[in-house]
Amino acid sequence: MKILIIGGGGREHALAWKLSHDSVKHDIHCAPGNAGTANLAENIPMAAEAIAEIAAWSRREQPDLVVVGPEAPLCAGLADRLAADGIAVFGPGAAGAQLEGSKVFSAELMHECGVPAARSNVFTDAATAEHYAETLGAPLVVKAEGLAAGKGVTVCETLETARAAIRQALIDRAFGDAGARILIEEFLQGEEASILALVDGRQTVMLASSQDHKRAHDGDQGPNTGGMGAYSPAPVVTAALWPRIDHEIFQPVLRGLRAKGIEYRGILYAGLMIDSGGNPKVLEFNCRFGDPETQAILPRLDGDLYPILRACAEGNLDGCDIRWRPEACVCVVMSAGGYPGAYTKGDPITGLETAARQKDVTIFHAGTALRDGKIVTDGGRVLGVTALGATLRDAAATAYEAVDMIRFNNAHYRRDIAGKALSRTAD
Ligand code: AMP
Ligand code: GLY
Repeated sequence: MKILIIGGGGREHALAWKLSHDSVKHDIHCAPGNAGTANLAENIPMAAEAIAEIAAWSRREQPDLVVVGPEAPLCAGLADRLAADGIAVFGPGAAGAQLEGSKVFSAELMHECGVPAARSNVFTDAATAEHYAETLGAPLVVKAEGLAAGKGVTVCETLETARAAIRQALIDRAFGDAGARILIEEFLQGEEASILALVDGRQTVMLASSQDHKRAHDGDQGPNTGGMGAYSPAPVVTAALWPRIDHEIFQPVLRGLRAKGIEYRGILYAGLMIDSGGNPKVLEFNCRFGDPETQAILPRLDGDLYPILRACAEGNLDGCDIRWRPEACVCVVMSAGGYPGAYTKGDPITGLETAARQKDVTIFHAGTALRDGKIVTDGGRVLGVTALGATLRDAAATAYEAVDMIRFNNAHYRRDIAGKALSRTAD
């Protein structure tokens, strides 16, 4: 099958890698891809946001499926554009993508459908917002409504931080129109988990659970990032919780979307906070595969990926066979020092081949590029060093052995990926 994957991060490398292991050989293209996808696919120099260019390529090349990785092109209507040309596309149209693109849309929909979430209020005026924050008291969370490259959420321990976050969005307009409206949310306590569900418009199939590590440093310290590592399964998502997530969260949201005339096809990603009583609340929805959750989930998928993605895109997951390997998976992100702030690019990476040869290890590239035949750093999150193991403990040990073989200038990574799960269990 001819497949076009949109995006160039670790998630897209993982998608290309899994598709390249299907029982049928595919003709895979990535736009723009990275140095890792270049080994499995043809990289096409089109930016993920270049909708007109991607649509023209797809009309000419007639792929059997376009799989959209990042949220920006989905929110900008790439899936609608491709569908109008009769191209099968994995990912929702712009109307459904609002679940990620507008935190106000998402909060209102959850409220209408009775989905458990943090209490929140919307503001456009800084003085009114500050007054509300003072009434609520710290800690609280300030969120820009729209897409803000992962920087739009501030968890505020103090009212001082809250005031600064409110002013940054509403007065300084640091996020442009994406921060013209903000939400002030109650602070939720608990442990986070990511549940990704395939949605075919009518039904949902939840993928294996996972947990991301959003903060830059060990012990959940430091600034929020795109995600410093992930593992699957996440034991915080117990067997008892599993059906509740579908019944209390995915099903009502899907009904709510349908009531608005929105047909949602693709991944619906629920970022959950699970409290000490085991009750889930939604922190956010994303309209796409998670990054780095995908790198920890796909190695556990037993069987072919293409038929699942294609069935979902066609709106019929009936009879889709989704099985999971019993092994656990851990993905440790190696980032450029300084990320999520300023960092250097173009630093040579060594040890990749040795690390990739280790049993059960796969290295997913994120911010890498080929320069004069050498692989160099080209982004904040550089690599996702991933390992399968009989237990999470084995998988983590193997992943960290591989990490230790890889070198680049100022490399940074967390030492405690999967730590929360390991502290729960003896094995
Ligand atoms: P979001 O992009 O909405 O998932 O927010 C990014 C991160 O901020 C989440 O992964 C949480 O760690 C944190 N966060 C967001 N909303 C809340 C909340 N209401 N209470 C506590 N932490 C939150
Ligand atoms: N790992 C968080 C995200 O994909 O949004």
